[in-house]
Amino acid sequence: MKNRAAYMTGLNKMEIREIEVPVAKEKQVIVKLEYVGICGSDVHYFENGRIGDFIVNGDFILGHECAGTVVEIGPGVENLKVGDKVALEPGITCGHCEYCKSGRYNLCPDVEFLATPPYHGCLMNYIAFPENMAFKLPDTITTKEGALIEPLAVGMHAANQGNVKLGDSVAILGSGTIGLVTLLACKAFGATDITVVDVIPKRLEYAKKLGAAAVINAAETDALAEIHRLTDKKGVDIVIETAGSAKTVAQTPYAVKNGGRIVLVGMAPQDIIEYNFAKIMAKEAEIKSVFRYRNIYPQAIKAVSKGIIDISGIVTHEFAFDDVAKAFDFVIHNKQDVVKAVIKMD
Ligand SMILES: NC(=O)c1ccc[n+]([C@@H]2O[C@H](COP(=O)([O-])OP(=O)(O)OC[C@H]3O[C@@H](n4cnc5c(N)ncnc54)[C@H](O)[C@@H]3O)[C@@H](O)[C@H]2O)c1
Ligand SMILES: [Zn+2]
Ligand SMILES: [Zn+2]
Repeated sequence: MKNRAAYMTGLNKMEIREIEVPVAKEKQVIVKLEYVGICGSDVHYFENGRIGDFIVNGDFILGHECAGTVVEIGPGVENLKVGDKVALEPGITCGHCEYCKSGRYNLCPDVEFLATPPYHGCLMNYIAFPENMAFKLPDTITTKEGALIEPLAVGMHAANQGNVKLGDSVAILGSGTIGLVTLLACKAFGATDITVVDVIPKRLEYAKKLGAAAVINAAETDALAEIHRLTDKKGVDIVIETAGSAKTVAQTPYAVKNGGRIVLVGMAPQDIIEYNFAKIMAKEAEIKSVFRYRNIYPQAIKAVSKGIIDISGIVTHEFAFDDVAKAFDFVIHNKQDVVKAVIKMD
């Protein structure tokens, strides 16, 4: 058995190196990874070396969207066996703090999240991982789809936070990976009128293909005026911001209807944003936010394996592990074309 990992060795520099094959400790499994998705955050670390207070220090392994096959089980493992296909939920939490104990483990201050410094990611052949964060995939779901459970979980958490339900109207601002998985989640939750806004026509085409009832190109049309037109001036039940821009965050109070809900998912580059709270008050609108996800993997895996959510539709590019450096370069230079690129591990 040989293990190799892709190290980011500096800004826009990556090389594959041989590393030790991990040993399964108590309640851990060794997973041979088969697919790893490239996330916007991986690209951001690769280009900038940091996201907010998380700073890459030294050689660093990216990647946190992954799935593969169990090849070894450690002592005390009860629910997985060699040969099981699994998707890994990348945040390992303490299990003891008030957030973990109340089920909101995504808020655990001691979380060790793959590819969030100082914790390495999973762009490697073999990884040791806690059994309780490795979710078994049924036969009806591939490990490629398994790797996409991670971004899908963000979209499902957004739909949960917005309490999206049957018959709701939803406006999703931004049609990148997160906007699209949010669209898939809202559709699965029963929203009937989903409008997706972006400034890149190609991305809006994907939104249309994945089930948006309407799309708005904000580079050509006044998005708010169009949302008002589509909703008889009322606004939508739920607005979900996934573009991560100050402009779209500031649009949310105008797009939501009286008593509606706003869900903030995108991370704008600036911390402080001018925002119309008077509108929020007058509409008695609710503002919710999203930090990753919690308790969603089992539900997401079921939805994909039963064909309720077709997640494979978001993959636009696939690269071999040996070409991982090329893959990052390609993603960086073709941002308009790439929605989700995945690395096929070998
Ligand atoms: N809260 C969380 O836990 C969480 C998790 C994952 C990602 N994120 C954040 O979600 C955001 C989206 O991630 P992504 O991977 O989809 O990024 P992305 O860059 O692929 O998508 C953003 C989209 O917004 C569009 N956009 C830009 N300006 C716009 C405007 N004025 N109106 C409409 N659309 C506009 C872009 O064209 C792009 O398609 C990022 O900010 C990311 O950091 C948050
Ligand atoms: Zn991600
Ligand atoms: Zn905790």
